[in-house]
Amino acid sequence: MIINIAIDGPAGAGKSTVAKAAAKELGYIYVDTGALYRAVGVNALREGLNTKDAQAITGSLEKITVELKFENGSQQVYLNGSNVSEEIRTPAASMAASDVSAIPAVRSFLFDLQRDIAKHNNCIMDGRDIGTVVLPDARVKIFLTASPEVRAKRRYDELIAKGADVDFKKVLEELIERDYNDSHREIAPLKPAQDSVTVNTDDLSLEQSINMVVSVIKEKLQ
Ligand code: DC
Repeated sequence: MIINIAIDGPAGAGKSTVAKAAAKELGYIYVDTGALYRAVGVNALREGLNTKDAQAITGSLEKITVELKFENGSQQVYLNGSNVSEEIRTPAASMAASDVSAIPAVRSFLFDLQRDIAKHNNCIMDGRDIGTVVLPDARVKIFLTASPEVRAKRRYDELIAKGADVDFKKVLEELIERDYNDSHREIAPLKPAQDSVTVNTDDLSLEQSINMVVSVIKEKLQ
């Protein structure tokens, strides 16, 4: 039987790092659904579209293809046949992804792709609405969270390590704006599923967060 695990939570809670490590330990594939929304956002930026313009963004979906491929166990995202896995990680792409993700047509455009991967693979899927909408029957649901300041500090350190020239206050402001957008949109807003386990990583190191999540999963799978 296929086993699906949902990990949802706000930006910068450590979902991708924690989910990736947990998937490796369990021998499952790791699916980062944010990458899909980021690819749609990057397409809008490339086309010079207003990322909040639902009509323009909906129209742009007719001409694009978004695919996920798993190469050597790691997820790669393709937009119109080319690999955009790096390009989707900029702060501009983060905000564009948050904007386009509030548009119903974008969510339905990406829905089947996510469902299809989960149907055929044991996976840990991370996002905002995995436990609530995409995989309501997931065997384990985790809501991974931390305070905005702690999350912004992690994001800031990550960007600095990549050599980006960023300002902490700006990173924090953008994160708070994205939290607001993601949790107040009408469709599939970010919220814990009723049957999820919340893990707050404020006082946990990365290693402790991974251990905590892996132990919640193992306990629930028993
Ligand atoms: O997880 P992330 O930061 O890469 O996600 C980028 C944006 O995509 C996020 O701000 C909201 C949106 N998103 C979503 O609406 N639903 C998901 N399942 C995953 C991401």
